[in-house]
Amino acid sequence: MTGRSAGEEADGERLQKVLARVGFGSRRACEELIADGRVTVNGEVAQLGRRVDIAHDRVEVDGVPVGVLPGLVYYLLNKPAGVVTTASDPEGRPTVVELVPAAPRVFPVGRLDVATEGLIVLTNDGELAQAVAHPSHGVEKEYLAELRGRPSPAAIRALREGVVLEDGVTSPAKVSTVSPGVIRITIHEGRNRQVRRMCEAVGHPVLRLVRTRIGPLADRSLRPGSWRPLAPAEVLGLARAAQGRAPAAKGERPAQ
Ligand code: URA
Repeated sequence: MTGRSAGEEADGERLQKVLARVGFGSRRACEELIADGRVTVNGEVAQLGRRVDIAHDRVEVDGVPVGVLPGLVYYLLNKPAGVVTTASDPEGRPTVVELVPAAPRVFPVGRLDVATEGLIVLTNDGELAQAVAHPSHGVEKEYLAELRGRPSPAAIRALREGVVLEDGVTSPAKVSTVSPGVIRITIHEGRNRQVRRMCEAVGHPVLRLVRTRIGPLADRSLRPGSWRPLAPAEVLGLARAAQGRAPAAKGERPAQ
């Protein structure tokens, strides 16, 4: 029970305005989503002119719930070198959680080495975190790696096809040369220190490593040490990348 009156039911906000606000593009683009029959409200295909209350109505785009549970937060941080990815560090080094708001408490999704820079998500959504970080879900992570020396075509091919590491052969990776000694490498396994170990295995230790993309998330304007909240559409995109899993709809599970 929502405790609202019938009059309030008839109110609410225009659906296209709500969709635009949570990141589905311009109002015009959102009207097209509705006109194309891709939006449902409480299980029924929405018509243009529909009003909704996002806190009470269940809105879905392409079958994926819009919005996330109240209390869940998602931050995209550009981690500087020298900051650890754990919640606390026995050696007293700065941690990623100290760079984002303290409440509600969040934790990093996956890990970056202390020397690695770049994008990392922090959230209190445990399910999404697990889904994204899980190697079997294959969420792509893209890195720029500055290497010692200039890798030969054979070394690049080895990185692409698979490198023998002590914990097994790596899965095929996407690798391109950005400039002499700098490669862009995309992997989806997330083994410990994987990029550094792969590059070392082909004779080119990493001098600098920056993560530039996590699934659909990239942001070249986010400065080192800065963070921003993810737009709901970005959360949905991330959830889709993690095997099509969507974040919880209203009432499915409590915030952590
Ligand atoms: N691969 C690494 O070697 N280090 C990271 O921090 C991330 C991926």
